[in-house]
Amino acid sequence: MASGRGSNFQALIDAAERGEIPDADLVHLIVNKKDAYALKRAKKHEIDYTIITSHDKSRREFDQSVLKLLKELNIEIVVLAGFMKILTPEFIDTYRNRILNIHPSLLPSFPGAHAHRDAIKYGVKVSGCTAHLVDEGIDSGPIIMQTSVILSDNETEESLADKILKYEHQILPKALQLLCSGKIVVNGRHVKIKSN
Ligand code: GRF
Repeated sequence: MASGRGSNFQALIDAAERGEIPDADLVHLIVNKKDAYALKRAKKHEIDYTIITSHDKSRREFDQSVLKLLKELNIEIVVLAGFMKILTPEFIDTYRNRILNIHPSLLPSFPGAHAHRDAIKYGVKVSGCTAHLVDEGIDSGPIIMQTSVILSDNETEESLADKILKYEHQILPKALQLLCSGKIVVNGRHVKIKSN
């Protein structure tokens, strides 16, 4: 699921084409905005897609429409690749520990929609990105993988976003492969990766 540019979606497509996520099948893209650039990427790579607009629906109506589609398509795992909406508890429960999100900070620091701005404002020297499972909170689910980056003295929101994005594109496909291969064991907040 994506809302905009879809560079993380593209990273999944590229990793799949390189054979790096052999246990995943990228079957369908869902966007909640008609003009999401992610759609162009799906078309180019011949991945089916559906637009389910969210601006004209309640959260519950939107989630119900998405869940109906996921059921029809027998979708097992949902990736939020730059999907900028909070899902309802019912949605989360239906896909418990099967929804993956990528977030541009070292969680639990700086959850929410302005992670880069918040990190710079706070004055941190290190930030990064987090691939995590989605629970009912905002960017609060069990952490699968993180990568750090060092901030420079003159870092801007844009430069930090660029710096972190490269690593998002690396860890999201890796986390997806782990999830799809059944190697992830979740115990409360703790995620362990089975070695075989
Ligand atoms: C990424 O930084 C992602 O972590 C955040 O929103 C941005 C989306 O970028 N949730 P893209 O649409 O994947 O290019």
